[in-house]
Amino acid sequence: MSFLRDLKIDRRTFLVGSSALAAVAFSGGSRGAAMPGRELALAARPKRLQLVGAPYNDTDVWSYNASVPGPEIRIRQGERLRVVLDNQLPQATTIHWHGVRVPNGMDGVPFLTQKPIGPGETFAYEFECPDAGTYWYHPHHHSAEQVGRGLAGVLIIEEAEPVEVDRDVVWVLGDWRLNRDASIVDDFGNRMEATMAGRIGNTVTINGRVPETFQVRAGERLRLRLINASPARIFGLEFRKHRPVIIALDGQPIEPHEPPKGQIVLGPAMRADIVLEMNGEPDSKAFVRDTFYEGRAYRLVDLVYSGEPRLRERPLDPPARMRANTMPEPDLVNAERHSAVLQGGMMGGRGMMMGMSGGMGGMGWSINGVAATGHNLAPMLTLSRGRSYVLAVRNDTAWYHPVHLHGHSFRVIARNGRPTRYREWLDTVLIPPREQADIAFVADNPGDWMFHCHILDHQEGGMMAVIRVA
Ligand code: C2O
Ligand code: CU
Repeated sequence: MSFLRDLKIDRRTFLVGSSALAAVAFSGGSRGAAMPGRELALAARPKRLQLVGAPYNDTDVWSYNASVPGPEIRIRQGERLRVVLDNQLPQATTIHWHGVRVPNGMDGVPFLTQKPIGPGETFAYEFECPDAGTYWYHPHHHSAEQVGRGLAGVLIIEEAEPVEVDRDVVWVLGDWRLNRDASIVDDFGNRMEATMAGRIGNTVTINGRVPETFQVRAGERLRLRLINASPARIFGLEFRKHRPVIIALDGQPIEPHEPPKGQIVLGPAMRADIVLEMNGEPDSKAFVRDTFYEGRAYRLVDLVYSGEPRLRERPLDPPARMRANTMPEPDLVNAERHSAVLQGGMMGGRGMMMGMSGGMGGMGWSINGVAATGHNLAPMLTLSRGRSYVLAVRNDTAWYHPVHLHGHSFRVIARNGRPTRYREWLDTVLIPPREQADIAFVADNPGDWMFHCHILDHQEGGMMAVIRVA
């Protein structure tokens, strides 16, 4: 399927397509009552496919069901999802359902919540999808390499009342480090690089293809679901001549607003749902630029208007705020406060390691003085189930860190001591160097949950901890 055709598929067609593909409706499930749901089989396996396009070679990747990104799973809010993973990779793997508040045993964390799924083995994931929104799935075992070789897929949990748009489009932003023959550079786990920004690649893809053009029609309204599925690259997208309105972050509805300075910033694992009014003229062009890294801006994709007449003369009303999801509201007055301090890495530019206060040392990154080795860790914090917490996460390093908590969404209530304007619910919060984010949540999901940086080299380099809810 070509990149362009991919992007032109509208939601209706896709639903037909996806049921033909792999997902089948089912009812039943472990709770007895007839719970509607979907079931699909995923095979994780090597595959050779086209990332860059002619005249370049195809690329050997690791895929779910022979596609990159893997199949887009769509399910309605409240339904059950059952996915049987068949591991045909040369190494063990797991799947983590990023941002979905699953029961602990379905969270896909090797050695902590499940035994890694060995080559030739299968594992059935099954859970309810409590909250609508844009999510994704990826391995949590050797994830820097496995995500870096292509393993990632989209999970969309549909609202009962979605915003009214003409097209619902997903852009999975990928980042690859390729050789001149378009093969993947086999340099995973470089420790020097891991102490800096992580393994940022040289080739950016949208939905698994190096993008050239994205076809639009004058007057149409898009819902664009942006997912940063890259191992390390941070994006800062600007839609030239357009005014995107953010309606959800990390799947969670937010007061619709234009992004600050018109730039949508997404660290690894972060998502933004935007409403985009295609207000250009028929036959005109615009483009999307990524301006995140200073001095390294590039044009990501051209927006090409067809010659068709404007779809509507008068624009639709501005999008209303979508209905909130089901997270309990943290009680900030009685919340217990804790802090998490991120440390380690190179000092900006000077090539010196930051001092680590205590800890095991050697791995480069730490949280509260402890550099994690592997996932099976003694808890950094033990929280009482049902209680509200505020966690002050302070970045004492010279690098950005997108910090992710499993099993919960949290409100970002303050940054650098100042209340945030939107009090956004997130599952991954990007914290710039030397800054702090205060996050609040009710610890309502029992189990041992990972808390880690989603720059995967930082995570594997020690910036990872366990928060227990008991
Ligand atoms: Cu998206 Cu712990 O991961
Ligand atoms: Cu990090």
